[in-house]
Amino acid sequence: MKFFAVLALCIVGAIAAPLSADQASLVQSSWAGVRHNEVEILAAVFAAYPDIQARFPQFAGKDLASLKDTGAFATHAGRIVGFVSEIIALIGNESNAPAVQTLVGQLAASHKGRGIQQAQFNEFRTALVSYLSSNVSWNAATAAAWTVGLDNIYGLLFAGL
Ligand code: HEM
Ligand SMILES: *[C@@H]1O[C@H](CO)[C@@H](O)[C@H](O)[C@H]1NC(C)=O
Ligand SMILES: *[C@@H]1O[C@H](CO)[C@@H](O)[C@H](O)[C@H]1NC(C)=O
Repeated sequence: MKFFAVLALCIVGAIAAPLSADQASLVQSSWAGVRHNEVEILAAVFAAYPDIQARFPQFAGKDLASLKDTGAFATHAGRIVGFVSEIIALIGNESNAPAVQTLVGQLAASHKGRGIQQAQFNEFRTALVSYLSSNVSWNAATAAAWTVGLDNIYGLLFAGL
């Protein structure tokens, strides 16, 4: 029964491969070291992908170096990076799967409404992983854990986008 339930989810494509308990802990412990660097993380995303910055009405066309020091930027960084923290806190516990599904589904719906496409979410992912790889203790195991975790979240996200 359980096997078929898992199989069905895999076929739907919502879940690539489950995160092991060790992988969930690796994602959580590495994220703990940078999760409060909200402004720096969003700035790194915008610096790598100015097309993402351009989609924010408040930030489009503005100089990133000065934008970084504004309250509006800190507020948005807190929302976006805070969402990542919220999801990461829930992973690794099967009981939280419905909550993850709901939150990611809401993110997909709100961004679908804004016309944000998969390509830009993939850019966000690339920038986030690049930030992590230079700011947390990074090795093959950490990289693999983030790949599996992000594959799962992005599977849910893209199903609703
Ligand atoms: C990758 C390309 C993305 C673009 C272009 C984008 C764009 C936007 C825009 C234009 C807004 C509205 C801003 C406003 O109110 O002025 C917004 C809101 C928001 N974004 Fe994104 N976003 C992206 C990715 C993400 C990601 C990856 C996350 C979370 C990890 C995220 C989390 C949020 C949240 C929490 C809000 C506020 C609540 C909401 O409206 O859903 N965004 N985003
Ligand atoms: C998993 O989540 C459930 C529901 O949120 C909670 O009751 C339980 O204590 C959690 N288990 C672990 C090992 O954290
Ligand atoms: C994170 O890494 C970037 C280089 O990618 C570096 O400029 C920045 O200072 C690092 N942040 C912290 C808090 O160490």
